[in-house]
Amino acid sequence: MCGIIGATANRDVVPILIEGLHRLEYRGYDSAGVAVASESGLNHKKTVGQVSVLEHAVTEAKLSGHCGIGHTRWATHGKPTEINAHPHGSSESLALVHNGIIENHSVLREKLMTHGYVFVSETDTEVIAHLIHFHLTQSPSAEDRLTVIQKALGELEGAYAIAVIFADMADHLFGARMGSPLVVGVSSGEGYLASDPLALLQVTDQMRYLENGDVVVLTPDECTITDLKGKQQVREVERFQHGDQAADKGSYRHFMLKEIFEQPRAIKDTLSDKVGQSRLLDEALGVDGLSMLKDIEQLHIVACGTSFHAGLVAKYWFESKANIAVSVEVASEYRYRDPCVPENCAFLCISQSGETADTLAALRYAKEKEYVTTIGLCNMPGATLVREADIRLLTHAGIEVGVASTKAFTTQLVVLFWLAQVMSKARGHLNKAQELNVVQGLHALPDQVALAGEQSSMIEKLAFDLVDKPHCLFLGRGLHYPVAMEGALKLKEISYIHAEAYPAGELKHGPLALVDEQMPVITVAPDDHLLEKLKSNLQEVSARGGELINFVSKSVSLDETDAKHSIQVEGMEGDLSPIVASIPLQLLAYYVALHKGTDIDRPRNLAKSVTVE
Ligand code: G6P
Repeated sequence: MCGIIGATANRDVVPILIEGLHRLEYRGYDSAGVAVASESGLNHKKTVGQVSVLEHAVTEAKLSGHCGIGHTRWATHGKPTEINAHPHGSSESLALVHNGIIENHSVLREKLMTHGYVFVSETDTEVIAHLIHFHLTQSPSAEDRLTVIQKALGELEGAYAIAVIFADMADHLFGARMGSPLVVGVSSGEGYLASDPLALLQVTDQMRYLENGDVVVLTPDECTITDLKGKQQVREVERFQHGDQAADKGSYRHFMLKEIFEQPRAIKDTLSDKVGQSRLLDEALGVDGLSMLKDIEQLHIVACGTSFHAGLVAKYWFESKANIAVSVEVASEYRYRDPCVPENCAFLCISQSGETADTLAALRYAKEKEYVTTIGLCNMPGATLVREADIRLLTHAGIEVGVASTKAFTTQLVVLFWLAQVMSKARGHLNKAQELNVVQGLHALPDQVALAGEQSSMIEKLAFDLVDKPHCLFLGRGLHYPVAMEGALKLKEISYIHAEAYPAGELKHGPLALVDEQMPVITVAPDDHLLEKLKSNLQEVSARGGELINFVSKSVSLDETDAKHSIQVEGMEGDLSPIVASIPLQLLAYYVALHKGTDIDRPRNLAKSVTVE
């Protein structure tokens, strides 16, 4: 997955492109490039590494122009080299940037080679550039670039969002989308394109969200959108709602730390349209939402990564509160099998970005099946997932920049808990007094999350103990098993320490063989009905010399387990404990990575939003 940006204006657009690429770096950051059109033709600069390297090269070269495109790459076809970096061109007549994967690129490459095209890169993108050029040479009217682009795109199989400029049309910016996201930014006398509105908030908050199959041509004063056959399409201008706060780390060293400490605010905002003074606001499900969901017997939850872990926690809530049988599955598996869809079953997909290719494919697949309805839970109001799901639920975490998800996860949990309780009420399992309890618990949550964050300096110290460890085990039981999985994922994502989570009761069936003085075992110990069982599991670890680090409820004493560290966390009891317990685990991963000196906000090989398969 990569990030693309384009701009056409009556001023130099290079600073806009560079700033946009900085904001898109979360989508990939192994190489970057820009190309601009001017009277002297097309000029470009490409560099390996982060956008700051490109910025330096562009300044040195004094690159400028009124119309241009830019790209930050996350390698899929070919290594991160200058040659493979975008933009790619053809015969110096056009430059193109691409996000996505062209599945029939080998066939097209061979065909184009027979027409004399020479490929310099290993990318699938270069195929698109040459293909457009090929159709340009075949076209009786070279001026009609839209038709030429439509013809070329008609030959592509796979996913793409592209931006193209031509040497002989120095103020025209072209774009198209199929599968991968692309948004048009609207401003007086200027036109923009980007993979994410975030990249454009520096210049406008007015967006037109392109749909699959849209092709757009922008000049400083005009925006024309057609489909692949040339039929005009109308995409209304919408104001982007998140505000331009994301690119700013404030006084924090990393976005991830800022986002961890933003969780009380993010949770409060997420609750604002879902919980009133004394009742759960089921209106947030939309006009027919509740009536569609009220009588379902089963729920299929599908997601990827951290969002998948949120789904795993939610299973416990939906089953225990609302008596709905739940299955939870990763999207990349679900989309390629033939799942049984029982009667009265709804589909729920969870995605922070709403653009994850596997999750979107799963949603589309689900829409062909006999589900009662589809629900999309997302953090980005304009995302494809929000547009395509029947029922939309939004977290209001604000833009999350750190690749390792934190506030998006806890706000997802908040909405999932709320939904389980809304369904419980609708099905007669929650009386007025119980509802009031739930409401009060949710209103108290932001403060509890803030309190959990106060353990930060203690966690910072204990993190030193993990820095040199190659492996780590995480244990939890019940609702806190998926919390342990998320803790392990955080640690491996940003500190590169191999970490696995187990339900504590499963320890003796294999992983106990790994436990010795070199194996830190991190446990999540809330004050719940499984505590005594968990204590026995911890005894099994300390008896083998394992180094226990426990995050325990304030009301729990675990002295007898000889833990190396026991950190007491307020609020780790009751239904909402998984949300509170996630905070120290996020902090632990953060500080281990900080002590190791890794690139915390942009861990190697990963990207924030995986818009390719
Ligand atoms: C990537 C990110 C993860 C994220 C996953 C799903 O792998 O690095 O942090 O959990 O995608 O993303 P989504 O936007 O669908 O929640």
